Amino acid sequence: MRVIITGASGQLGQALHKELTTQGYEIIDIPDYPELDISDHSVVPLLSDLYPELVIHCAALTNVDACAKDPDAAFAVNAFGTQNVAHACLRCNAQMVLISTNEVFSGRSDRPYLEGDPPQPVNPYGSSKRAGEQMAAHYLKDGLYIVRTAWLFGGGHMFPEKIIAAADKNGALQVVTDEVGNPTYAPDLAKAVAQLVQTHAYGIYHFTNAGYCSRFDFAREILRLSGREHVQLNPTTLAQYPRPSVVPPFTPLANLRGAELSITLRSWQEALADHFAQK
Ligand SMILES: NC(=O)c1ccc[n+]([C@@H]2O[C@H](COP(=O)([O-])OP(=O)(O)OC[C@H]3O[C@@H](n4cnc5c(N)ncnc54)[C@H](OP(=O)(O)O)[C@@H]3O)[C@@H](O)[C@H]2O)c1
Repeated sequence: MRVIITGASGQLGQALHKELTTQGYEIIDIPDYPELDISDHSVVPLLSDLYPELVIHCAALTNVDACAKDPDAAFAVNAFGTQNVAHACLRCNAQMVLISTNEVFSGRSDRPYLEGDPPQPVNPYGSSKRAGEQMAAHYLKDGLYIVRTAWLFGGGHMFPEKIIAAADKNGALQVVTDEVGNPTYAPDLAKAVAQLVQTHAYGIYHFTNAGYCSRFDFAREILRLSGREHVQLNPTTLAQYPRPSVVPPFTPLANLRGAELSITLRSWQEALADHFAQK
């Protein structure tokens, strides 16, 4: 199968490239940003003329605070850029996987979010990603998988690496206890996406590593697994740690639809241990 991965040099894009290549897919390499900018309408013919059978759309503005400071840029890439990619898929009859986010939800639930729960974003990153979901669904009545995920790590300088760097620099850390989500290992998500595209069971999916935790508990496990249990870890709250972007506090995702297809991911603790074992 001929596959295009947008954002292929990003964290998830790299994991998908590795996984799909191992599985024998033919990856059509496209230029990176800024040479190829999905927010530019010219990507529609550019992508469709390559005749992919599947497009996995990872490219996005993923810095939530940068999105809050420049909502127009967030919408240009995450909403209209996604619309361009969906338009290209329509033109060449390709299936599309849109990678979306837990931040389409408000975070005011008292239980993990199901795939059918109504989105209610509370910041420009979440609003722009939700608009991208809606625009893609408008173009592709069939052939669209929307895969929401959360708290990715495993490629680049992500939360585990930031915690270790801060621990080594400062010797003590303050981490919030009231932001809760599912840490998700990018290579595990890539495997789940590779399974999903075999099914042709289009629709919305919630793929994260199993279980959920606070940022504080995530940090504690990172310190333990990296041999830094001695580092002092102090609890704080979102209210004490203001950021440009509003943070939806409780956004764990529940994987019901994927589990019905026997697509499940291991626990975040096992995945994190594997991440450190690979280092
Ligand atoms: N990271 C998370 O915790 C998380 C959580 C939930 C959902 N997601 C979603 O998962 C997907 C993958 O995330 P990730 O962590 O792999 O992100 P990432 O590492 O930031 O990769 C995103 C990629 O998109 C590229 N890009 C940005 N703007 C572009 C544009 N206008 N045209 C073309 N490419 C552009 C980036 O290029 P440059 O590096 O050159 O800017 C980068 O290669 C995203 O859709 C994100 O919304 C991520």
